[in-house]
Amino acid sequence: MSRYINVPDPPAEETPESQQQLDAIGRRMLRRRVDALKSLPTFPESIVRINQVLSSEDGDESFERIAAVLDMDPVMTARILRLVNSAFYGASGAVATVYDALVMAGLDVVKGIILSTHAMDLLSSRQGMRGLWEHCFGTAVAAGSLARVLGVGRQTEISAAALMHDIGKVVLATQLPGDYAEVVEHARAASCCVLEAEVALLGVGHDEIGKWLVSRWKLPAALAEPIALHHTPEKATRFPEATAIVHVADLMVRAYGFGFPGDHVMPEPSSHAWRLLHLTPAKIEEAVESMHRQLQGALAQANLYDERVR
Ligand SMILES: [Fe+2]
Ligand SMILES: [Fe+2]
Repeated sequence: MSRYINVPDPPAEETPESQQQLDAIGRRMLRRRVDALKSLPTFPESIVRINQVLSSEDGDESFERIAAVLDMDPVMTARILRLVNSAFYGASGAVATVYDALVMAGLDVVKGIILSTHAMDLLSSRQGMRGLWEHCFGTAVAAGSLARVLGVGRQTEISAAALMHDIGKVVLATQLPGDYAEVVEHARAASCCVLEAEVALLGVGHDEIGKWLVSRWKLPAALAEPIALHHTPEKATRFPEATAIVHVADLMVRAYGFGFPGDHVMPEPSSHAWRLLHLTPAKIEEAVESMHRQLQGALAQANLYDERVR
């Protein structure tokens, strides 16, 4: 936490020991609430199977074939359309086909949606979460761009993990809406990042909640590790590159100003991630340019749809 600014001191009237006990009780209570959630589904194997079918296809020219596979699954199609629409329209339904969704959001992001669709339903269907959904969508685009520039494989999983990286915030915001509004307000008033405000007010951060969720859902480690450790990429052991990419992508989208992650603070990038990925200002610039093109393309497409449906 020390890399974030304005780390609050513990209250003077509490001893560190009693504060730790209170924190531990708060965590146990919160964990019980997370474990008891009825609305969080298990990770469905059917989605993994569909993704395996799609992994043999790649590139823009295969959009029609991919769309044909997905069109056979009406539930999946509905989910993809709802998620892509919600990125730019709320729930207006302007993107009407899987093919349009592929053109608009790109293959990596749609594959990411397929892998993360159940989890992200929570996010896109909730009122007042659009800024967070845009932040997650933007991070998926940024992570895909960065992975391509760096020549790192497993881009699908990286985009999917990026799409879900802040799923812990979704749980906090939906399960403890009043408390989470206070967290966001605290982050605003103290000019600190929302992770720091979560720990200060709730005793637990969204990264830790994410870790509980990915273990509960038994997500593959390629997704689980980057989600759980996107704020502490130096702890990654199995997928350190993917974790570092999601970490940097999160910051790229913050710097770019797309969506709202819950605060307006720009945390410092992890020097470990920077070294591990052999990042240079030129590579970051190339990835940002690619992210910019993809997001602008998606937004331009959204405007065309807006005009069409008006
Ligand atoms: Fe985060
Ligand atoms: Fe984030």
